[in-house]
Amino acid sequence: MSSIVSERSEISPILWDGEKLKLLDQRLLPRERKWVECRDSLSVARAIEDMVVRGAPAIGLTAAYGAVLAARESAQSSKIAWGKDFFHRVAVIRATRPTAVNLGWALDKMIETVSLSNLDQSLVTLENCAIGLHKADLAANKALGDFGAALIEPSSCILTHCNAGALATGGYGTALGVVRSAARRGLLDTVFATETRPWFQGSRLTAWELLEDGIPLTLLAESAAAWLMKSGKISWLIVGADRVAANGDVANKIGTYSLASLASQHSVKVMVVAPSSTIDLKTAKGELIPIEERNSRELTHINDLRVAAEGVDVFNPVFDVTPAELVSVLVTEMGSVPRPSAPAIENLLKNRVTGL
Ligand code: MRU
Repeated sequence: MSSIVSERSEISPILWDGEKLKLLDQRLLPRERKWVECRDSLSVARAIEDMVVRGAPAIGLTAAYGAVLAARESAQSSKIAWGKDFFHRVAVIRATRPTAVNLGWALDKMIETVSLSNLDQSLVTLENCAIGLHKADLAANKALGDFGAALIEPSSCILTHCNAGALATGGYGTALGVVRSAARRGLLDTVFATETRPWFQGSRLTAWELLEDGIPLTLLAESAAAWLMKSGKISWLIVGADRVAANGDVANKIGTYSLASLASQHSVKVMVVAPSSTIDLKTAKGELIPIEERNSRELTHINDLRVAAEGVDVFNPVFDVTPAELVSVLVTEMGSVPRPSAPAIENLLKNRVTGL
């Protein structure tokens, strides 16, 4: 395929105007493009919990701006003892979604900039830090997109799951960053995207994003993936991550583990794409990653329509863990790690800079 990607992949789900945060409401896409305005830290926490904004890096950036708002609120309660109130508000944001490590990572970066004895300076450095994290995430995605694209063979068909695109990040995307960079180099035949039940991040968000950029896309139900892989068409399964443990185990959207297992069965290579901020060296292995479970209503209903039998019990984990041995390569903005392992990841991160 020739270069079919326009230069306009500038979808950005998070806008900060110095006073308030505007979030593109991802629950409504692609039917409606509506922005939710957050003017206080509690509304930021609610927006993350309710999936107005989603995707690990986007959650982290939203939380960072939430911390800016939190500090401003605390400053109004007391100019001297604002710190306790600030940490309480930040803790409320931190508790919203447990698996995405970028949430706590971004808040820790924000807290590091705070000087409790100098409120005015802290208000300035907090805002600068949030804006800096936002810019750094976009730059990282463009860099990792190029690292990933360098591994893609011409005329490749790629399978992706969930949405690890511009909507899930500060822009450009991780897994979809690689897709964008590969498309620009004329390497893609087509992209297959799973629906990604129950939130339909694939059919609603990935499909919308890629079609906006003119990248050819075919939708399938998760249950069709084995059959598609058996056809021999797919060369790569490319996914994002919510948290990569120190040994290379990967937490990502529920269903990733099934797809990676199927990929191994059908000799399809597996690429996990994430900024280095998603690698959590404090979590030794996948079993230690907290897995978020969400409301049963997400499975029993589609919008307001009940589809499940009344009274049925529900199991709704929204992430799973793919063991490192099923991952062919981990791609970050700092480079790629084939067959990720604890020593290889440690080696990659030796030069991790504090900006990201
Ligand atoms: O529940 P979600 O939609 O927040 O889950 C998102 C994912 O699982 C993504 O693959 C992951 O966060 C990486 S986004 C670059």
